[in-house]
Amino acid sequence: MNRLYHYFCTVKYKKMSTIILGIESSCDDTSAAIVEDGVLLSNIIAGQAIHKSYGGVVPELASRAHQQNIVPVVHEALKQAGVSKDKISAVAFTRGPGLMGSLLVGVSFAKGFARALNIPLIDVNHLKAHVLAHFIKEKDGNTEQPEFPFLCLLVSGGNSQIIWVKSYDEMEVLGQTIDDAAGEAIDKCSKVMGLGYPGGPIIDRLARQGNPNAYTFNKPHIPELNYSFSGLKTSFLYSLRDRIKEEPDFIEHHKEDLAASLEATVVEILMDKLRKAAKQYKINQVAVAGGVSANTGLRNAFREHSEKYGWKIFIPKFGYTTDNAAMIAITGYFKYLNKDFCSIDLPAYSRVIL
Ligand code: KG4
Repeated sequence: MNRLYHYFCTVKYKKMSTIILGIESSCDDTSAAIVEDGVLLSNIIAGQAIHKSYGGVVPELASRAHQQNIVPVVHEALKQAGVSKDKISAVAFTRGPGLMGSLLVGVSFAKGFARALNIPLIDVNHLKAHVLAHFIKEKDGNTEQPEFPFLCLLVSGGNSQIIWVKSYDEMEVLGQTIDDAAGEAIDKCSKVMGLGYPGGPIIDRLARQGNPNAYTFNKPHIPELNYSFSGLKTSFLYSLRDRIKEEPDFIEHHKEDLAASLEATVVEILMDKLRKAAKQYKINQVAVAGGVSANTGLRNAFREHSEKYGWKIFIPKFGYTTDNAAMIAITGYFKYLNKDFCSIDLPAYSRVIL
């Protein structure tokens, strides 16, 4: 009798796991991920090669590709995780910032999915999710996670910010770009050199074979902890124009040195303000996030700063630097624990602040 009673109690009160489906569609990657009790089970990303021939993301084409990709990507995420739809506790989605036509695909899908299963919806700020990518836990991994508070340099194609991360939800922007983002400047310089899109990985690869001191480009003089990259872009362009006049094949002959010098200048600009912020706020835990955090020169600079200034550094795995739904699902999980749900009529935002 006692054993039977115990059995019923265990079944009745067996802890249900919390399973979050994350959806990301802010730009040109359609992604879905499953997180169970804070542990990542799957993370599927479908890129969009179509933009390569245009030298940049074409919003209308991105939106159409998301529509084609979203159902198979979610299906694959569920399959790889071994999770059936009825086990999902909530759907987390990127609400913004991003391209409106792209966001709307993910937002509409998430709303329909949550409504059909009668489960909560969780809106996620894409920028916060990039920062919280440092808390993605893999099944067999034991990567060390930052403790609050820490500083995070968020560098992508659309943002360059220094963020004071006080908790999973509370983040304060200490400085940000007043014009172009670091990734945007690298992509534009790469385009001027006639290289492919996106320029970041190409510049990174070429830079490994070049001399970072071969050329100097203008660095900005911006007050406080803000950044500016438009001057560097112009300086790079004028410098090429002048040299091509004397040597028409200048770019082809010097592309490695140009890439290395450009990368070194961007890294120097980024690290200069980050050092200031760490000193000013007396914080020695420093993380990096966003697409540009895949850059080898920037990663090396973080390691050098760790040795020189005693920083405890956090560099994300390559797969979590660019846009992915794992970071959306993990952010959704933290919001779920706080019962921080959103209404079904919440609109997407192309621009949001932290
Ligand atoms: O975070 P992300 O995937 O998308 C958003 O902008 O939201 O970042 C994309 C940016 C692009 O500018 C791309 O060129 C840059 O990240 N990027 C890199 C590298 N990999 C990607 N920049 C420098 N070095 C890289 N290895």
